[in-house]
Amino acid sequence: MAEGARPDTVRLQRLARAYRESGALLAAVELGLFTEIARGADTEETLAAALDLEPPNGERIVVACLGLGLIRREGGKLVNAPDVERFLVVDSRHYAASWMFFTRPDWNEWGQLADHLRRPGPPLEENASVADITVEEARRYHEATRAVGAGAGRHFARTTDLSGSTRMMDIGGGSGAYCIAACRANPELRAVVLDLPAVCEVARGYIAEADLSDRIEAVPCDFNQDDFPTDCDLAVMASNLPMYGRWQIAWVVKKTHDALLPGGEFHLIGEALAPDRSGPADAALWGLAQTLHASTGLAHSSAEVASYFEAAGFRDIAVEDFLPGILVRVSGRKG
Ligand SMILES: C[S@@+](CC[C@H](N)C(=O)[O-])C[C@H]1O[C@@H](n2cnc3c(N)ncnc32)[C@H](O)[C@@H]1O
Repeated sequence: MAEGARPDTVRLQRLARAYRESGALLAAVELGLFTEIARGADTEETLAAALDLEPPNGERIVVACLGLGLIRREGGKLVNAPDVERFLVVDSRHYAASWMFFTRPDWNEWGQLADHLRRPGPPLEENASVADITVEEARRYHEATRAVGAGAGRHFARTTDLSGSTRMMDIGGGSGAYCIAACRANPELRAVVLDLPAVCEVARGYIAEADLSDRIEAVPCDFNQDDFPTDCDLAVMASNLPMYGRWQIAWVVKKTHDALLPGGEFHLIGEALAPDRSGPADAALWGLAQTLHASTGLAHSSAEVASYFEAAGFRDIAVEDFLPGILVRVSGRKG
């Protein structure tokens, strides 16, 4: 809306019904719509037939995907948008549908968010989304995190000088994506994934698949309660910042500082707010989602994270975009 113009309801309507966009995207993935287009079912008729959808449902979902810019017409043919073609076509090696479905278990609860927000009583110190996770749940969870974590791990390895590092601990390391990428890029590096017991079992599978079981171990550790190894000169903690509140994250940062070898580096890569806490929306919404899990979690700002580093005793503290709009990196060195 232009500055000074009379407000209209356009933006509010879009936000109020944004769930329809999620529904259309996820249904299209579930139906295999993008995969069928990539495989050549590129007219409305052939696509509806390939998806086995009766009229007018085939037309409805195709038109919705066109309206959302997920697909477009090119010379009478339907084609996928570039991000859809890369990440939502089964045959792509970058297929990341599991990550798109990662938050779907929360779907119904978002419709009851006001009730969750009104819930009385203090938050739980553990995070209900992972506290009692079974191996089967951890498999689903980390098939999803790995779909994007592998790329994030490679980005970390590419953008970080790890040449002097010998042993890395990955706090809440999940699938081991960061350790795997870092060890692949640095043949001298060894690593340990610290995560909940069921997650470690799943991580070991991915580590074995990468043929790195001789250099990466997965050790059960609740980072809120257990001690960290004291033989590491590199620590990473990625994509779990909004899962816990301020004193818990500050405590983990302090424990990390104290456990690292002198000169060791810590990289916390998280969904953080800008210093003025006015965005980005993605970090704010990850924090809001924690209401559903009754946890202490919330959106931390990059300035707050930097203050945890400072209080812990880290030096050379730096804050930078890791994936703009999604992840921020705060790093520091133990003096
Ligand atoms: C979104 S995943 C991120 C995984 C990995 N760091 C990555 O970026 O791919 C969050 C991870 O934090 C772990 N986590 C959460 N709370 C934890 C705790 N108290 N102790 C250990 N790990 C925890 C979860 O089990 C999960 O593996």
